[in-house]
Amino acid sequence: MSQAPDRSPLQAVKGMNDILPPDSARWEWFEDCARRVMQRYRYAAIRTPIVEPTALFVRGIGEVTDIVEKEMYSFEDSMNGDRLTLRPEGTAGVVRAAVEHSLLYDGGKRLYYLGAMFRHERPQKGRYRQFHQVGVEALGFAGPDVDAEVILMCRMLWRELGLVEGRDLWLELNSLGQPAERQLHRAALIEHFERHADLLDADAKRRLHSNPLRILDSKNAAMQPVIEAAPKLADCLGAESLAHFDAVRSMLDAAGLPYRVNPRLVRGLDYYNHTVFEWVSDRFGAPLTVGGGGRYDGLVEQLGGKPAPGVGWGLGVERLLLLLEVAGVVVPPPVPDAYAVLPDAAALPQALPVLEALRALGVSVQMHAAGRDGQGSMKSQFKKADASGARYALVFGADELAQGMVAVKPLRTEGQPVPQELRPIVEAGVWGGELLRS
Ligand code: HAM
Repeated sequence: MSQAPDRSPLQAVKGMNDILPPDSARWEWFEDCARRVMQRYRYAAIRTPIVEPTALFVRGIGEVTDIVEKEMYSFEDSMNGDRLTLRPEGTAGVVRAAVEHSLLYDGGKRLYYLGAMFRHERPQKGRYRQFHQVGVEALGFAGPDVDAEVILMCRMLWRELGLVEGRDLWLELNSLGQPAERQLHRAALIEHFERHADLLDADAKRRLHSNPLRILDSKNAAMQPVIEAAPKLADCLGAESLAHFDAVRSMLDAAGLPYRVNPRLVRGLDYYNHTVFEWVSDRFGAPLTVGGGGRYDGLVEQLGGKPAPGVGWGLGVERLLLLLEVAGVVVPPPVPDAYAVLPDAAALPQALPVLEALRALGVSVQMHAAGRDGQGSMKSQFKKADASGARYALVFGADELAQGMVAVKPLRTEGQPVPQELRPIVEAGVWGGELLRS
């Protein structure tokens, strides 16, 4: 006897969201905005796979980071035993692709991407297991000018989106210097924390020798005094690092972009050197980072390429959309130019070619779709036309059709002449040239 098929409803994986209309329109509006800004700075799109070899992230992000230690979706390919991971971020994959395809052979490349990332974190508002980033990576440029460029790009995006720096979010900036300087600092930190080992919690003790820098990130209130007293990286930076940081700062100053230097800003990925930054908002109650990035001059070489510098950022799309909401930014909902009212299905053979011709001219037209019981009353069709947000109803009524006419009824703006977006109908003579009336 065969078993009854399982028809129980299925659900999305926890922490992974469907993006449904009308919300999906806000996503598209945001993505269009971001693409426009990135293209204005001459960044070109790159698309890399969502699944990469696990080793890419272990080598790229760093073995002793939260992401690699506990947040990656890693699995074995059951076909061939390969160790694979759903990308938790975009930088490592972009650098791998640049090395694999020798993208830097004729000079630097400015790249951008938009896409889903995966981290096994505890889901909450603004934190998901599948989330989306828009990111840029400028590869092959060593100068502080490009650090300033990528940061200013963010400001341009905020302005396009209708966010206000200083009110909705602000920039935090730090320099992590060079690896040798960080070694010095690291040794000084270990010495300091060893001297105060009795004040450290278990997590800090575990990290003491593997990644003492991350102890500085601890939220444990009891440890704040010992963290406060720890040696500062800024005191270990040499002349070159200081000059790079000063140059970035003076370019941001010249561009009129305020920032807070935060010596505690270390970021959660190991590939950074020199400039690091985060965009933080406190419009959610507690401060929330909506994006971050920095310079990573060692990563290309670390992933097998000829040494080449890099700098970039990643912004959390969900977090920015939440920020737009709390900041009261109104995203215009997409509305059709016109809604086709069809009192009788008999009008369809005449109406459909008109609608097709209008769409071919770039006019967006929503057609009234028949239900099981036919077209529905004129009243209900006009109600739907109104709810669609369309500015005009095109009425294919029997009387109009008998006279060879389509009535254009303004739904929003009474008594206006035939609007610009409907001009093509008139100009192209879609309906016999003179048969429209408004
Ligand atoms: P990240 O700081 O790990 O940097 O992530 C960038 C942004 O992604 C965060 O500021 C946050 O807005 C968002 N984000 C991260 N995790 C989640 C999550 N679980 N749910 C929702 N949003 C999240 C990077 O990923 C680097 N690749 C950035 C970069 C590019 N640095 C240089 N180039």
